Amino acid sequence: MCGIIGLVSDQEVSSTLLEGLKRLEYRGYDSSGIATINANKIERVRSKGNLSFLEEKLSNTNLPGNIGVGHTRWATHGTPDEKNAHPHITDKVAVVHNGIIENNNQIRNQLIESGVEFSSDTDTEVICHVLTTYLNSGLSAYDSIRATMNDIRGTYALGVLVLSEPEKLYAVRGGSPLAIGSTKNQNFIGSDTYSLSAYSENITYLKDGDIAVIESHSYSIYDHSDSLAIREKQSIIESVSLSEKGIFKHFMAKEIHEQPEVLAKSLSNYIDMETGTLNIPSLPYDLSGISNVTLVACGSSYYAGLISRDWFEKFTNVKVGVEIASEFRYREPPMDINGLTVFISQSGETADTLAALRHCKSLGQKTISIVNVGDSSMCRNSDASLKIYAGPEIGVASTKAFTCQLGVLACLAIKIGVSNGSLSKDQEKEYVQSLLSIPRLISNTLDKEDEIADLAHDLSNITTTLYLGRGQMYPVAMEGALKLKEISYVHAEGYPAGEMKHGPIALLEKDLPVFMMAPTNRLYEKTISNLNEVIARDASVILLTDEEGLKNIGYLANKVKAFVLDKTDFITAPFVYTLPNQLIAYHIALLKGTDVDQPRNLAKSVTVE
Ligand code: F6R
Repeated sequence: MCGIIGLVSDQEVSSTLLEGLKRLEYRGYDSSGIATINANKIERVRSKGNLSFLEEKLSNTNLPGNIGVGHTRWATHGTPDEKNAHPHITDKVAVVHNGIIENNNQIRNQLIESGVEFSSDTDTEVICHVLTTYLNSGLSAYDSIRATMNDIRGTYALGVLVLSEPEKLYAVRGGSPLAIGSTKNQNFIGSDTYSLSAYSENITYLKDGDIAVIESHSYSIYDHSDSLAIREKQSIIESVSLSEKGIFKHFMAKEIHEQPEVLAKSLSNYIDMETGTLNIPSLPYDLSGISNVTLVACGSSYYAGLISRDWFEKFTNVKVGVEIASEFRYREPPMDINGLTVFISQSGETADTLAALRHCKSLGQKTISIVNVGDSSMCRNSDASLKIYAGPEIGVASTKAFTCQLGVLACLAIKIGVSNGSLSKDQEKEYVQSLLSIPRLISNTLDKEDEIADLAHDLSNITTTLYLGRGQMYPVAMEGALKLKEISYVHAEGYPAGEMKHGPIALLEKDLPVFMMAPTNRLYEKTISNLNEVIARDASVILLTDEEGLKNIGYLANKVKAFVLDKTDFITAPFVYTLPNQLIAYHIALLKGTDVDQPRNLAKSVTVE
């Protein structure tokens, strides 16, 4: 993962690099650092922890220089200490790296045998020493970088400063994203558009194998065969502003509360409000001939895929598979040539999902990515993409992106159903009306936040919990458990309520908190049977249901803590039942005092396997 940035300018760069790093902090916050070249010396400031620690250090340290690189780290090789923080340096180079060098141990051992001393445990330092060895042998900076690229194996995006060429910043891409942002007087490199958009008029994406040689007023890009390469320069139409928390204590709280608004906005991109029908941009293939749908994603995005499976099955009448990208990409399952594969990702950069996309493309699958970051790698690599328009999601735990993914997936499922004749125009309108009711329904849930905060108070000391549901409520339960785990560090398991009797029921004991999702639908009665099994074992149930659902359990109502939600249908239920789970996780984390927006060990964009 990690975020890298670099800048060559007519002016001092360290404060702009720091601002740029703030936009990349979602990629990792174990440590950070900046290096510059000044007065024929490489200077650097690094710090353990998130960027506030680096900012503090920089406020007391002068870091002059008109050229520099910066890094924010998600630890892979080596503990999250200052000694492992980037930039890594030798007496000749400074390097920032996003990715993993797979033959790092082998090269490190060779270098140690030849007398090189390492000062960190990172794979990146290997790059510094290989590069320095080539420079010492008399190769030019460019040739040394190319030779180093030939020696290392893995994935990387690199920003490189070479002391002997103090006006040139080298940008290198080998599998991890990297782009150049440019204005008249300065040129940047960055891991994503977001980090570049505040400072650049144009953006140019590097391709794998590229080395860019960047100066303050110009740059040149060379491809894998060292030929001058022309890469498309795209203008940045809108500068994405760094979101502020507003009245909220955390980005996560803000993003939870934004959901009615962003969902309405997101849906309005795919629905014609006048006719109440779908308005999906035309795709480069005919949806009516799709033989099957495969949904591929990781984490919360995978759960969004699981929820939407029921929509795809019901609306399209074709076979649907849902795959965890990291497993799918190595399984090599046979794929039907008329199959559509849908890649779901907030960041559009998740390494496993991206690799699965490339694999499916090589098999001739029709591909579509559903992403939040519009010009991400997945967008650029798939046949078509549908943006979810959630706006920047800064909190590491996905909230508004998750519900916006659900909205777009529902639209796509309906669209395929209409295209292949499985749904009538009337059904399309009926389902679109349901979608349009979602912002109001989830807004009603948000109005009950105080009730949830009280509930969280009673649960603030829990150490383990179960989330149970059937049908679409099963992945909703898994998503609820994931939210609690990642931001409050409480062990939680999401399980299909009907499967509990095959094992996890052994965990039930007095007062174990169990969240049960039970909207009144065709699975309601079955879920209530499972509720009885849980109550019979003295566990402490938090029942999420609607008024009718609560009424129907009769005397059992006295044995549960009920949270009553609006009446839902097959489309609206997953949205409405997700919101209380997000809020409960948030409020428990608040009471536990964890770092809600930057939970330990996590990062927003997972660009390593
Ligand atoms: C959980 C969460 C992660 C992501 C996962 C995939 O709250 O945010 O599980 O969903 O890392 O990321 P994207 O959607 O960017 O591919």
